[in-house]
Amino acid sequence: MLLIEPMQVEDVEEVLAIERASFAAPWSRLAFLSELLENERAVYLVAREEGAVIGYVGMWRILDEGHITNLAVHPDARRRGVGRRLLEALCNLAIARGLRRLTLEVRVSNSVAQHLYESLGFSVAGIRPGYYQDNQEDALIMWRDLPTPGPRAGHEAAGSWEGAGA
Ligand SMILES: CC(C)(COP(=O)(O)OP(=O)(O)OC[C@H]1O[C@@H](n2cnc3c(N)ncnc32)[C@H](O)[C@@H]1OP(=O)(O)O)[C@@H](O)C(=O)NCCC(=O)NCCS
Repeated sequence: MLLIEPMQVEDVEEVLAIERASFAAPWSRLAFLSELLENERAVYLVAREEGAVIGYVGMWRILDEGHITNLAVHPDARRRGVGRRLLEALCNLAIARGLRRLTLEVRVSNSVAQHLYESLGFSVAGIRPGYYQDNQEDALIMWRDLPTPGPRAGHEAAGSWEGAGA
């Protein structure tokens, strides 16, 4: 069974392995630890299956916006809906916390991630030329407007995510 849960410090080694397998310029262990331990605006979720972390997603809350920092699924677990589940959980959490919009950057070459984001209601709003330092690739800036939470949805989601670092 797939569980979506708040990321814990104990998850960082597994997260790092996925990060290194997924990105040309992976975040360091220290970067993840400081997000979890020192950044009160950070929200990180993991996807766990049979005890193992197989994906994660993160966001910073900035005023009424959520800025998605990263999303990755273990290469062996891709194309099974895990990325979608993680992103849906993050969107629901953002709605429950009263955020109005979500944004992210994605490489122009990353059509897989772009398809996923578009299917969840994100659309391209601009471009950051040369945004990625490893190869000077451009980033697409994507945004999604969020609905306001119903009282029931907000209460349930907020209650079930206490301790998510948000
Ligand atoms: C992007 C990523 C997180 C998607 O995770 P995933 O668990 O494989 O995605 P899902 O199985 O939930 O697929 C969701 C949607 O993404 C798109 N998608 C996923 N894999 C795809 C592929 N190989 N080709 C085209 N579209 C694809 C599809 O729209 C898919 O929906 P569908 O299955 O209904 O067609 C994963 O490929 C990954 O970790 N990539 C490397 C890191 C990365 O690029 N992160 C995003 C940085 S902005």
